[in-house]
Amino acid sequence: MTVGRPRASVAAMASYRPGKSVAMAADEHGLDSTDEAQAVKLSSNENPYPPVASVVKAVAAAVGEVNRYGDHGAAELRHALAGWLGVDVGRVVTGCGSVGLLQQLFLAYVDPGDEVVYPWPSFEAYPVDVAITAATEVAVPLAGHTADLDALAEAVTRRTKLVVLANPNNPTGTALHVDRIRSLVERVPDDVLVVVDEAYREFVTADLGDPIAALVPDHPNVVVLRTFSKAYGLAALRTGYGVADPSVAEQIDKVLIPFAVNHLAQVGSLAAIAARDEVQVVIDRLTSERDRVAVALRDAGWEVPDAHANFVWLPLGERTDEVFPALERRGVVVRPFPGVGIRVTIGTPAENDRFLEVLADLD
Ligand SMILES: Cc1ncc(COP(=O)(O)O)c(C=O)c1O
Repeated sequence: MTVGRPRASVAAMASYRPGKSVAMAADEHGLDSTDEAQAVKLSSNENPYPPVASVVKAVAAAVGEVNRYGDHGAAELRHALAGWLGVDVGRVVTGCGSVGLLQQLFLAYVDPGDEVVYPWPSFEAYPVDVAITAATEVAVPLAGHTADLDALAEAVTRRTKLVVLANPNNPTGTALHVDRIRSLVERVPDDVLVVVDEAYREFVTADLGDPIAALVPDHPNVVVLRTFSKAYGLAALRTGYGVADPSVAEQIDKVLIPFAVNHLAQVGSLAAIAARDEVQVVIDRLTSERDRVAVALRDAGWEVPDAHANFVWLPLGERTDEVFPALERRGVVVRPFPGVGIRVTIGTPAENDRFLEVLADLD
């Protein structure tokens, strides 16, 4: 029985499903002891390594300060981001993860019935925000595992408020050059926001350009979102940031839950900016592992689209529903998209080897 009267759009919506933990998979399948000992979680695109030592130290030192509220406006962090990114501080926003900022964009811009356009499959938080705001989803199928820019431009109508483009795309890992994104932006009316979700930007090793430098100055309707969760290894602290036109930043800020960017998140993120050369070493380790895993999979005969993020995509179609449970029964926890494919996060070399070994055993 439902108590109270939830909004119809919320009552009808599916909850966001985080990637499964090893314990959940072990409970479900009753893993044998060898598989349980070697179980790996490659389901949430997390960084397998802890944050660099200076970040851990800074956060630990600030734990005793949490009796006070943090700085709601995260002024020091925003100034540091502005300096790092070379933009005016009035363009910088911070939120509770980049998903927090995305939800703020929906809350600030999307009325019930407004259309939100995005390629699909893409990040599963987008339909959740559509449901929360009772918007209308316009999901545009990918073409060749990549956003179909013509179809996206054609899907925009007078009711469209947002176009959301994950670049690289989750779950396929494909990415577009900024010039191609510009060609989409130029076909979209100025009063439609184009949100470029760059959660995985730091893992891009190809030269794809930078939308903050190349798009934001001339296109006030472009919003770029980034995060400390993935490359910087701070997923549990929850700091996302974005760059937008100052008028957009002002609206986004109005709907930020008070103190949602918590004090430890601000301290950790500031320390991470200061430690970015050390973080780059971790990123390089992960991107070279990604390339190794992609080559190993292709050599073994699997189709793997270009992988620009910290995961690889196996577009298995109907075979997903056979391969995914078989991996999970051996303690390799990955992310299934039923009937479409499997997304496998890049872990440590040993974790990646375990995945490759169990997959090879399935053949
Ligand atoms: C495309 C995309 N955007 C945003 C996020 C969320 O990042 P954050 O931890 O900053 O909320 C993810 C996480 O999986 C993602 O895949």
